[in-house]
Amino acid sequence: MEKLQAIKGTYDILPEDAVLWQYIEQNIREICELYGYGEIRMPVFENTALFARGVGDTTDVVQKEMYTFTDKGNRSITLRPEGTSGVVRSVLEHSLLSGALPLKMYYNITCYRNEKPQAGRYREFRQFGVEAFGSSDNALDAEIISLAVSFLKRMGLKGLKVNINSIGCPKCRAEYNKALKEYLGGKLNELCPTCNTRFEKNPMRIIDCKEEKCKAAAAGAPRLLDMVCDECREHFEGLKKNLEIMGIDYQVDSNIVRGLDYYTKTVFEITSDDLGAQSTVCGGGRYDGLVEQLGGSPTPGIGFGLGIERLILCMKAQNVDIPSKKTQKIFVCNMGDNAKTFAMKLTDDLRKLGISASCDNMKKSLKAQMKYADKIKSEYTVIIGDNEIETGECSIK
Ligand code: HAM
Repeated sequence: MEKLQAIKGTYDILPEDAVLWQYIEQNIREICELYGYGEIRMPVFENTALFARGVGDTTDVVQKEMYTFTDKGNRSITLRPEGTSGVVRSVLEHSLLSGALPLKMYYNITCYRNEKPQAGRYREFRQFGVEAFGSSDNALDAEIISLAVSFLKRMGLKGLKVNINSIGCPKCRAEYNKALKEYLGGKLNELCPTCNTRFEKNPMRIIDCKEEKCKAAAAGAPRLLDMVCDECREHFEGLKKNLEIMGIDYQVDSNIVRGLDYYTKTVFEITSDDLGAQSTVCGGGRYDGLVEQLGGSPTPGIGFGLGIERLILCMKAQNVDIPSKKTQKIFVCNMGDNAKTFAMKLTDDLRKLGISASCDNMKKSLKAQMKYADKIKSEYTVIIGDNEIETGECSIK
């Protein structure tokens, strides 16, 4: 029979590794509590239209990478490739924006992208994300970046780079797209077929293309950061000041445009040299038009997504000390039928007292039971036989 295996680009988290995942998840909860963000959990799949409209239908994510299928009701369904669109859908569906603003939320979710798997790139991956709605103030941009940086520091990472940029608003972006089209208009035969489509629909995406020939063609192109309007420039300058006040080192990288269409003004990425080609651990930015685009009233928003697989790769590369597996407190060995029943009851009583315990229920030899207790690294071992039942006493090893 054919051997069944996990699908390419997916993997199992085994009990040994789950300890690290639990540690990370606990830290996510703690840092979000510290910053005043509440947890949101959304469905794994949504209507395809949500991502087409939210993420943008000229992005690689929507054009090439989504897991989309038609369900039995003939609806087009997609496994979420990211979290922001689903959060906005949920926020609008439950009228959360009529409550106290800014509304601040976090999530810890699986995402699905049909990309070519490689180190740091999976088809099912996990993302810790935060989103905040209702304030366009750049103090919130700084807070979001600070949350990501503090979390990564808490996880023991060093040498990370915080790269920031502004990609302006629809007003200045329109001007920029015009200038970019003028620059690239004579170089269309140097661009890949996808970028030729981008040239018509969304020229800024060309800056983000991974193809060498497109990178070369766009090398001397105008920079959006040089062309942003006064309001966007002021917003960006204010953010830089806020980061300085908070003691966060950053670099301005005018090449960051991000792979999703909803961004406005601030965009940022946190990278590590320890990660190779997939060097971005965390990416995010402002999306002041997304809520309206998905049917709500105009409401600014900002957030980030942090890839947990990449975080773990980085922690391992930097030999970060991670907590070791918690071991079992007591293992109850038993000999004979009466002792087995007694051990079962004793183990149950210990658990009710909050003491982790287990017992042999395979009628193994005492030697084999001791060996097993040793293997699972049980702190103490108790041996129950007829004698112990009679006297009501036993020794602990
Ligand atoms: P993103 O840049 O597409 O942004 O993804 C965020 C992070 O998820 C990346 O920096 C990376 O660490 C991780 N990631 C993405 N794709 C993969 C993959 N195939 N395998 C492993 N890790 C991956 C977003 O998703 C936005 N929703 C972030 C955001 C939230 N912006 C505003 N709010």
